Amino acid sequence: MKFFVDTADLDEIAEAASWGALAGVTTNPTLYAKIGGSLSGFPAHIQRICALVDGPVSAEATKTTRQELIAEGRELAALAPNVVVKLVMGAEGLAACRALADAGIGVNMTLVFSVPQALLAARAGARYISPFVGRFDDIAEDGIAQLGEIVDALSNYDWQNVGVAGQGLEVIAASIRSAQHVTQAALIGADIATVPFAVLKKCIEHPLTAQGIQAFEKDWEKVCQV
Ligand code: E4P
Repeated sequence: MKFFVDTADLDEIAEAASWGALAGVTTNPTLYAKIGGSLSGFPAHIQRICALVDGPVSAEATKTTRQELIAEGRELAALAPNVVVKLVMGAEGLAACRALADAGIGVNMTLVFSVPQALLAARAGARYISPFVGRFDDIAEDGIAQLGEIVDALSNYDWQNVGVAGQGLEVIAASIRSAQHVTQAALIGADIATVPFAVLKKCIEHPLTAQGIQAFEKDWEKVCQV
């Protein structure tokens, strides 16, 4: 499973990228609003993110109709070669996805919560599909089970030539809230997990690692005194 970081914060992205294990970034309007982003500053901000990572960067189109989404998607894709256009699931998003995929532009279909939605997004040529885990848990449903159903259902078919020629389809486990979610997403076989920076940092840690480091440091001090 690959790791994306789910943030629009440049410092977080730079730090996560410095670990050498980051494969991409996902943003959304909420994450951009959280860092105080403005409408006029959005294109330049996406370009800055794209320069920080060697991998796909999802930038979300915010318009409503398919024609508007296609135009916005083309503008976003022109910002940098690693931009992926994020579209929200729905009839307009599906239609725009097909048009953008036919134009060779990668789409990440977001706000996916069911197997039929995932199958439709894949048939419409999405390069990535983002089932949300945590938001199911928020309403007392099992987000990991839903993710598992989507991964299973998609694995019954060959998606190699459905989207942008030869690029295939990958499932991004999204709305990840804990290291436990990361474990479960990997066990299910999600291709990617997009993980908030704070959770990504937690994934590095383990109490036994911390304990082991302490013991090694203490013993090395003894060695230094001999
Ligand atoms: C996916 O790409 C989304 O940005 C994200 O995972 C949303 O998660 P949330 O439920 O934490 O807002």
